[in-house]
Amino acid sequence: MLKQLVYKNKTYRRFYEDHNIHYQLMEEWISLVRLVPTARNQQALKYLIINDPQIREQIFPALKWAGYLKNWDGPTQGERPPAYIVIGIDKNISDNYVAHWTYVDLGIAIQTILLAAAENGLGGCVIVAFNRQTIYNVLKIPEHIDVKAVLALGKPKENVTWVNMKPGDKDIRYYRDEQGNHYVPKRPLNEILMNKWPEFKFINNII
Ligand SMILES: Cc1cc2nc3c(=O)[nH]c(=O)nc-3n(C[C@H](O)[C@H](O)[C@H](O)COP(=O)(O)O)c2cc1C
Repeated sequence: MLKQLVYKNKTYRRFYEDHNIHYQLMEEWISLVRLVPTARNQQALKYLIINDPQIREQIFPALKWAGYLKNWDGPTQGERPPAYIVIGIDKNISDNYVAHWTYVDLGIAIQTILLAAAENGLGGCVIVAFNRQTIYNVLKIPEHIDVKAVLALGKPKENVTWVNMKPGDKDIRYYRDEQGNHYVPKRPLNEILMNKWPEFKFINNII
């Protein structure tokens, strides 16, 4: 069920590194993503699947993990992602690749992959903070592919739970407890659904 998948699909940053994700499985995810909505049906996104241990080791230093966790430098050896999917926009296809709708395409594709991973008991982390030079050098990405995200994937080795933010609470920073459990504050429904705001009471939710 979608609800269960969305609940499972938290951001994970620590994995069982020796639990491989087979190339074939990830190829199936991309073949699913081929069918998702895309602005003007341009289908300008390109994907590169990585689970080769040597390449993984070379791209890991390029990734920036969990900016809010100041005392944590990212997953240690043994907890690093066993796979990545690099996603870029093909500038030769997209007639306006910096337009906001290409980022909508990107979001739809990423979420579809993450839900497919969740369905397989796997999880991951979207990484947009990465060293471009390293990614381009190591992976020999051609110039016309503008890499926008690196998806780190694996079998999660950490507990991640969301917690409801209290009304008026402004702190959206995720945090960990002493046991290493990870908590992600989420805004309450009445903050994000404008129908709940007094100024929109004139719109009746009647049907
Ligand atoms: C567009 C986007 C970019 C992100 N970039 C990074 C990143 O560079 N490094 C990182 O550790 N997490 C990154 N994240 C993960 C977010 O921090 C995470 O989604 C957020 O804390 C909410 O946690 P949740 O996904 O478990 O609900 C990114 C997420 C998104 C959607």
